[in-house]
Amino acid sequence: MKPMRLLTAVAALSFAMPAAAQTAAGASSPDGSISVTLTTDGDGRPVYTVSRKGQAILNQSRLGFLFTDVPKLDRHLQIIGQESSEFDQTWQQPWGEWQTIRNRYRELKVHLKETTALARVFTVTFRIYDDGVGFRYEFPDQPNLRQTNIAEELTEFAFASDGTAWWKPAFLWNREEYLYNRTALSAVGTADTPVTIKLADGTHVALHEAALVDYSGMAVARTEGNTLRAQLTPGAGRPKVTKSGAWTTPWRTLIIADGAPGIYMSRLMLNLNEPNKLGDVSWFKPGKFVGVWWNMIKGEWSWARGPKHGATNVHVKQYIDFAAANGIPGVLVEGWNVGWDGDWFGNGNDMDFAKPTEDFDADMLAAYAKKKGVRLIGHHETGGSASHYEAQFDKAFKFAADHGEMVVKTGYVTDAGQIERVDPDGTRLREWHEGQWMSNHFVRVAEAAAKYHVAFDSHEPIKGTGLQRTYPNWVAREGSRGMEYNAWGGKNPPEHEANLVFTRMLEGPMDFTPGVLSLKGQNDSDILSTEAKQLALYVVLYSPVVMAADTPENYAKYPRSFKFIRDVPTDWQDTRVLNGEVGDYVTIARKVRGGEDWYVGAVGDEQERSDSFDLSFLTPGKKYRAEIYRDGDDADYRTDKRHSVVYEKRVLTSSDKLTLRIAPGGGFAIRLVPIK
Ligand code: NOJ
Ligand code: CA
Repeated sequence: MKPMRLLTAVAALSFAMPAAAQTAAGASSPDGSISVTLTTDGDGRPVYTVSRKGQAILNQSRLGFLFTDVPKLDRHLQIIGQESSEFDQTWQQPWGEWQTIRNRYRELKVHLKETTALARVFTVTFRIYDDGVGFRYEFPDQPNLRQTNIAEELTEFAFASDGTAWWKPAFLWNREEYLYNRTALSAVGTADTPVTIKLADGTHVALHEAALVDYSGMAVARTEGNTLRAQLTPGAGRPKVTKSGAWTTPWRTLIIADGAPGIYMSRLMLNLNEPNKLGDVSWFKPGKFVGVWWNMIKGEWSWARGPKHGATNVHVKQYIDFAAANGIPGVLVEGWNVGWDGDWFGNGNDMDFAKPTEDFDADMLAAYAKKKGVRLIGHHETGGSASHYEAQFDKAFKFAADHGEMVVKTGYVTDAGQIERVDPDGTRLREWHEGQWMSNHFVRVAEAAAKYHVAFDSHEPIKGTGLQRTYPNWVAREGSRGMEYNAWGGKNPPEHEANLVFTRMLEGPMDFTPGVLSLKGQNDSDILSTEAKQLALYVVLYSPVVMAADTPENYAKYPRSFKFIRDVPTDWQDTRVLNGEVGDYVTIARKVRGGEDWYVGAVGDEQERSDSFDLSFLTPGKKYRAEIYRDGDDADYRTDKRHSVVYEKRVLTSSDKLTLRIAPGGGFAIRLVPIK
């Protein structure tokens, strides 16, 4: 194909170099709504733009790289060719929010070559969807870039207008566990992605990345005005990323939609990942779990051995009995293994993932669980000693499989930049949770666990970039402030979950651990939520493995609300975001996989509101019995009425519309069952 020439208003700024001929490439999404151009300016600097429905989203944004050892790559480039093609395929998720996913885009490949003696070449590949764009750099193996040492990626996102941005600070000690800032786009600092932006006309854009493998995570830092620029996570060495031979970056992604719900409904993140590399994973069954956990998080029990030890035979049997009695398939046990007695924060070198403590009889408990139709969920807290963990992969996952554990929760509790890596020659290095080495570590975990038919749920993880498509045993992760913060001081504010849905949840499943019906943290402190909102979280915050985080004793006090937790599934055929505004409220409807029931959940923020939505997602002509769990008229997270819940039954059809009150700090949950 010949390069397409577009007349663009590129300011042909030229400094020392004579102006190079301007060339241009461009293409649009299948429905024509989103368009991308790539041009070179007078200095041969490649710049790209993104527009939607004729409106500029990104003005000319630069591309390029700094290296630690060779000249940078961002000027003196020429477009030497372009190709465009269409793709339309439908695929099935083994588990997820949607069973069937359509992957439809137009691809544009733009080939660039340096006009200098180095003559380095690369391709920028865009995949243009009707709801966004992904693009990545692709480098062939070449004489002048055989070993690549990347100091920084120069990719820019020059937003055409200001807006409101929701973002978390990047590179601070507590990794991804910060509250969201809501600022003008023109006031963003250095931010983790996803960054979600509402432009002045209401258009929403979520900036993130897909398929982060063998590369370091991309944060963004504002340079000037509304322009954000990539800032890669460091590694232990001087280059932030090293590559050899042919290589590609992860996809840099922009989901673009009219409103917040459309951002969530995009499947772009999954579609930009490689298909399943693990084959049949039907051995993994989504489901809920309870666990020897909340009492530890609250400080009443301990992970370490001693008088307060949580993971004892007595406690674990009690949790197995409770799970079995309530049809909950999983029981997480933390602190079951040797290694917790010393200072494990930031040091997991004592952890042995195949050696239980004396008061945890793994064989007996596995047999007891099996007899009761329940499975234990394992736990590997590495304390950030990632190499020490890798050295134990085989025995750790064999131990899990031998004890019927289908899922293992993993953890990397140490400050950012303090992951311990030990190379085969004994060299000790410090890595970042989201650096290149860790991106590969997590793939090694996925592969090692899959060998034993074990799935995993990583806490203090690298950010989610849709890799659950490729490694469908990587079933969940934390990577934000979960329920545990409600046990401690500095609790999550009521708007937190309405922020998460349109930011963190775009990465994929989150192990948030909802369902603390007691609404109490440490020292009897109040959680900033109503009881009904705790139920809503089971629908609103997606994960195939979901905890009922409170204790059996507390669930016994709230049997009517607990019924919803027992009923709600964790695997879906379909998902619809019915309404929502980032950080204010959201209402989500989901249809169970392999059944006809629908569930609806809604959460708000600190304000009272009235939430209206229609039920047109239901099958027309069918009647449904609705079991509604909503905030009482007096419910309020700030008062002793936080436990005020109304339980209602109604008959509803697809032509009905519901209007329900959401209390300050509240929410509601609904189960809809077709009437035979
Ligand atoms: C932090 C995790 O988020 C939490 O769930 C876990 O219990 C502790 N680390 C100990 O591993
Ligand atoms: Ca954590």
